[in-house]
Amino acid sequence: MKLFQIKNSFVLTIFGASGDLAKLKLFPALYSLAEQKRFPKDFYIIGYSRSPLTRKEFQNDFEKSIKKAHPKADLKIIKKLTDALYYFQGQYNHKPDFEKLRDFIKEISGKNSLTNMAYFSVPPQVFKDIIQNLGETKRSKTEDLRLIIEKPFGEDTQSAKELFHFVARYFEEENVYLLDHYLGKTGVQSILSLRHSNRILNTMMKGPEVSNIQITASESIGVTSRVGYFDQVGTLKDMVQSHLFQILALIAMSIPITDKSESLKREKYNILSALKFNESNKNITLGQYESYKNEKEVPKNSKTETFAALRLFIDRESWYKTPIYVRTGKKLAEKKTCVVIELKKFAFQSKDEEPNRLIFELQPEERINIQLVNKNGLSSEYKSITTSESIACNGDDCLPEHSNLLLDVMRKNRLHFLSFQEIIASWEITDSIIKFAKKSKTKIELYKDGSEGPKSQHKLTEMDGFKWFDLK
Ligand code: BG6
Repeated sequence: MKLFQIKNSFVLTIFGASGDLAKLKLFPALYSLAEQKRFPKDFYIIGYSRSPLTRKEFQNDFEKSIKKAHPKADLKIIKKLTDALYYFQGQYNHKPDFEKLRDFIKEISGKNSLTNMAYFSVPPQVFKDIIQNLGETKRSKTEDLRLIIEKPFGEDTQSAKELFHFVARYFEEENVYLLDHYLGKTGVQSILSLRHSNRILNTMMKGPEVSNIQITASESIGVTSRVGYFDQVGTLKDMVQSHLFQILALIAMSIPITDKSESLKREKYNILSALKFNESNKNITLGQYESYKNEKEVPKNSKTETFAALRLFIDRESWYKTPIYVRTGKKLAEKKTCVVIELKKFAFQSKDEEPNRLIFELQPEERINIQLVNKNGLSSEYKSITTSESIACNGDDCLPEHSNLLLDVMRKNRLHFLSFQEIIASWEITDSIIKFAKKSKTKIELYKDGSEGPKSQHKLTEMDGFKWFDLK
């Protein structure tokens, strides 16, 4: 199979090129694209940051991060990439630096116009400076300049609105790619493609058929080196607001009839804007792992949650009274992201019988499982049987999440990016939950490192007569 290849020359400027996101995710993602020969003959990658680095030093850092992520990396491919790699030292709030960047691009490419992409791998505090300077130094209104902005998009509804109004002063929404890396994961993308092509699944996933939905994203790592950011925001903003709500929307939305990104965004928005949290401490569990306060730089009195579980509803006729439970936390027993959809039982079935389940495992395994119940012969015992199929990408075209999304930006495919509206709707519900938790002083329950999280997460499901289902 011939892989899709970018034809037109491009320049990709990575703002914040000396930071962690660039080193851990973007550089290795560029390597994966180069390995699959996705790049055109002429392309230029510019690392832009405030640190005084020479081109050589930057090329060395770039090479190191690639080798760390891909220990068997092909040196010829790395060389091809580093030949296309430049470094530009500049401030984010200094327009003349952006003018010089323009001249620099022209100097290295010898071209007046080429596809120009700007990746924001910087803390959100400097987003506006970069947007303004890029906007004010644009050559023309119609210039093909694509902004790639990774979450967090603001820190609440108000700041997200301000950010989007600000962006809109300089750029059309179609030139802004709002990136949530979960939407680049093969498992997450499969939800859409499986739903789109399989009526059998959608029949099972209709509100009236479903008794409850459970979305879990557990992480085994702690806060790592990102304390400065994480302790300010906490898990509700860091994980639930975008990653978990996006998965929820993909599961609960009506399937879009076309593969146009606008149709998908509209359907996701319909769910996100109808999400409802009933204000009661019965519907929320917050927790903090025991060793969190001993982590370097974490304030000794930190009340930041590293775990959150919620009981939510969707205010739409088809999902009326179907509880949706979401939970996520750090320093838990294992790394796993999955969605469990439990189907209603017949009125004549006994309470003790297991329900049918449809389970999407999204990472690290990528599988779809259907659990059926059977009784063998004359035995009175019911047994669950699981049919399970891999949904992992297994062709030559498989790419990690950031590579998938970068390639999408390069070919102007907006399907796996967010809209302003979706983000605002997700912030509105997140803000309301946070406001409630503050007002009602929701307890932050300590949980053991490496455990399943706070015990009281079970109260959320038990009040409806359900249990969190853990796939062994
Ligand atoms: C990021 C969060 O968006 O996602 C991190 O800021 C979290 O706190 C990470 O660890 C999880 O991503 P993944 O791809 O490892 O599941």
